[in-house]
Amino acid sequence: AKDPIRVLVTGAAGQIGYALVPMIARGVMLGIDQPVILHMLDIPPAAEALNGVKMELVDAAFPLLKGVVATTDVVEACTGVNIAVMVGGFPRKEGMERKDVMSKNVSIYKSQASALEKHAAANCKVLVVANPANTNALILKEFAPSIPEKNITCLTRLDHNRALGQISERLSVQVSDVKNVIIWGNHSSTQYPDVNHATVNTPGGEKPVRKLVADDEWLNGEFITIVQQRGAAIIKARKLSSALSAASSACDHIRDWFLGTPEGTWVSMGVYSDGSYNVPAGLIYSFPVTCKNGEWSIVQGLSIDEYSRNKLDLTAKELSEEKDLAYSCLT
Ligand code: NAI
Repeated sequence: AKDPIRVLVTGAAGQIGYALVPMIARGVMLGIDQPVILHMLDIPPAAEALNGVKMELVDAAFPLLKGVVATTDVVEACTGVNIAVMVGGFPRKEGMERKDVMSKNVSIYKSQASALEKHAAANCKVLVVANPANTNALILKEFAPSIPEKNITCLTRLDHNRALGQISERLSVQVSDVKNVIIWGNHSSTQYPDVNHATVNTPGGEKPVRKLVADDEWLNGEFITIVQQRGAAIIKARKLSSALSAASSACDHIRDWFLGTPEGTWVSMGVYSDGSYNVPAGLIYSFPVTCKNGEWSIVQGLSIDEYSRNKLDLTAKELSEEKDLAYSCLT
């Protein structure tokens, strides 16, 4: 039998946490032959709710779940973890300035970075979900210098999956037959959902999405806006932000990173930019990546037309500004 993998979920008493921990315990993230030990962190006001989640995990009698640590102590939470899914953060409340929200999250991610660096297992892989996801991941990277930068990522897989979903609906094809969309940049409304290299598996072979949709106006307009604004549309409908889709996409992100992407398929991940596609190095930016042997690499050599170039630059610019804002909170 395999040794259990320790998975940390921060903000585990929250909405996404509640959807995510049963998925992990059922093997959705790491496979149905991989035992897991869940570490759940939240803050003292949520301690009782967190304990309730722990009770439910016991009640669900998951065969793969070999242990649960539920705590408000960040050191205990981080100790020995192989994977850290960072969902906890400070939400933007009405009337709050961007800088105030940034400042709260910078201080959370700075201290959790130190705890991970000191106490997590060697080669711990980190996925930041909490917003501003890219910039929180960047702060985590800066304050955990001994964790390899390739181990620190943020979630844009939900946006990627939303783009797949929209193409599938538009063409009335199975979502599993659509692949290789790309989310470039920030997990925010400046992200660029790009279908220029996306294809659909049809009875007549693989065909480009551009050809099948045959409506550039929709692809360059409404499609992009729908994906960029989907989070807001969910809030409007549910009066709560997306949770089951965020949790499921977080599982997809980690699963593909650990177990590899299928041949010929790429996915979108927020990763530390090396300057590929002339994206400024030193930002956490969403790129198309393939994964193999537990490591991602940015897909190289895709053609970028002028329309796309502007969109890649626009979202990079926003991330540079977020980075500056985050650094200004450090002093
Ligand atoms: P939520 O408010 O239901 O849960 C957040 C939890 O984090 C709460 O239980 C809170 O007590 C906890 N928390 C706050 N500070 C903490 C700290 N310092 N350490 C540990 N836990 C802490 O929020 P929800 O809906 O679960 O969303 C979580 C985050 O994920 C939000 O920042 C949200 O904006 C973000 N998000 C990101 C998505 C993405 O695609 N990257 C998609 C959807 C949400």
